Amino acid sequence: MDPIIAATHADPYPYYAELRAQGGLTFHHELKLWVASSARAVCAVLAHADCRVRPMQEPVPKAIASGMAGKLFGQLMRMNDGERQRCPRSAVEPALQLIDDYQVRTLVAARLITADADGLYKAMFRGPVSVVSTLLGLSPTQGRAISELTADFVACLSPLSSDLQLAAAHTAAEQLRGYFIELLAEPHSDLLKAIGQRFEGDEDTLIANLIGLCSQTFEATAGLIGNALIALRRQPGLREASLDALLAEVQRFDPPVQNTRRFVAQSCEIDGVRVEAGEVILVLLASANRDPLLNEQPDQFLLDRPSRRSFSFGSGRHQCPGQALALSIAAATVREILDQGVNLQQLAWHYRPSLNGRIALFSAVQL
Ligand code: HEM
Repeated sequence: MDPIIAATHADPYPYYAELRAQGGLTFHHELKLWVASSARAVCAVLAHADCRVRPMQEPVPKAIASGMAGKLFGQLMRMNDGERQRCPRSAVEPALQLIDDYQVRTLVAARLITADADGLYKAMFRGPVSVVSTLLGLSPTQGRAISELTADFVACLSPLSSDLQLAAAHTAAEQLRGYFIELLAEPHSDLLKAIGQRFEGDEDTLIANLIGLCSQTFEATAGLIGNALIALRRQPGLREASLDALLAEVQRFDPPVQNTRRFVAQSCEIDGVRVEAGEVILVLLASANRDPLLNEQPDQFLLDRPSRRSFSFGSGRHQCPGQALALSIAAATVREILDQGVNLQQLAWHYRPSLNGRIALFSAVQL
């Protein structure tokens, strides 16, 4: 086991506890990076001004720098610090908070979910992006195209992607841009108008960050839905619970984004440890959630956990602005899946290969 394999391991949580026992921020010699595993260290890294989301010398990964996917990547708030993050964020974050839970439920319910493994796949990997694109003002047919293109585009975010996948990501980026250029010519949804009114940058950056909303939605929300289904399969008694309460504990207990990274811009001290410019820190969000100093009885799945605390949506400057929307989409999707009568006991799963995502792929098994 190592902290990267842990993300897709069947049960990484005892290993995370071992890491925390060795110290909150320790150097991993094989991986050649720092590992933040305690809640205190994770919080300190994410709050530190010298811990950046990209390496100084490589703002865009070399493998995609020459194409459209690289151009979009370089404009995303998620991939920038300073003004290039703050400007789009100050428009997008408040607008996302205006979205109504009822509207989300209606959009999710309007999609047909079939009670088989393929239906689950589409509900997890196509539904959430379709909902976000419809909220932005695209038609349901366009929404389907956007979710397919987003699936191709996000491949550029993973170092595990092949050259073929990277080429498809550039093409998808071009096409996604086309859809949003057309949409911005006549913005009509409340969400897009709310973002547009607050946005002070150039149109290219706005378009990139609208595509960013789709790409941020894609894997993390699929993972959240999948991990909720796994919790329900393991503890069938949870079916009696409210789905909002279920999702609130699932996101803490078994987060879809297990880790994120930070790149040290200047030598500094973090949580009492000296780190040098150019070093990399792997930030174990999922481990911090299980730190007993953050949550009492952290390894218990407690629906009515008092004062739950979680790093699953990040913390600090880059904390996820889509949290409420993601939870709302995930709860509505799980509700629809259960209403279709999917027999969870007939499902087997494995996690998609990933360095940080814990995203289940389900298949049907004969009992
Ligand atoms: C509707 C779905 C979602 C949308 C629209 C969304 C949007 C975003 C955006 C735009 C950012 C970048 C913020 C910034 O850099 O200032 C972000 C960050 C983040 N999101 Fe989400 N997100 C969604 C779902 C999720 C889910 C389901 C999770 C996991 C439970 C998640 C976890 C995170 C984390 C951990 C970060 C911070 C990464 C870091 O600091 O390195 N997001 N999200």
